[in-house]
Amino acid sequence: MDTLSALRAARLVPVVVLDDAADADALAGALVAGGLPVAEVTFRTAAAEDSIRAMAGRGDILVGAGTVRTVEQVDKAVAAGASYIVSPGLSRAVVERCQEHGVLALPGAVTATEVQAALELGLTTVKFFPAGTSGGAPAIKALTAPFGHVSFVPTGGVGPKNLGDYLAIPTVAAVGGSWMCPRDLVTAGDFAGITALTAEAVALAASLTA
Ligand code: 3PG
Repeated sequence: MDTLSALRAARLVPVVVLDDAADADALAGALVAGGLPVAEVTFRTAAAEDSIRAMAGRGDILVGAGTVRTVEQVDKAVAAGASYIVSPGLSRAVVERCQEHGVLALPGAVTATEVQAALELGLTTVKFFPAGTSGGAPAIKALTAPFGHVSFVPTGGVGPKNLGDYLAIPTVAAVGGSWMCPRDLVTAGDFAGITALTAEAVALAASLTA
């Protein structure tokens, strides 16, 4: 299965912020135990690269890098084992470096102009970020009229209360969010709590798409 198909199958992409790479293995285990063998590890902390390496090395979880803004970060993430690269916005340089590495690029795009720019770079799936403040589900539906072959991964302001709005849209490939692995639970070492939140999210997504 290719990376995009795996993200589609998972339906949910947990957005992870790790302050200490020593927690990465336990966090990956918590997500897997909750039924979600997927993570987007954000380059918002110095621990991102080592965390990706630790998680990808397990072999039981699809690991991507998030908050990637530079080609240097792309190189570091891919060298550490990231299978996909998520960016908050659309950078030609970042997308082209991902294509050179042969890894999936998911740049942010929320306007028609940004979606067209992504298409020009050969992409057909984009992150819709920040989803909640960019018009949410109605905005994605409106973009689907001219861009019916484009898939979206809405992220930012998504949680259990509005997950169904996004998953109901056929062009939504998957939904990203941090609600399954809150940073304070990671810091506190409450991995059982993360497994419980993840299992709840997986069950909710399954019930909403049944
Ligand atoms: C991201 O980087 O994708 C977002 O910060 C995640 O947004 P959320 O915390 O609102 O889920």
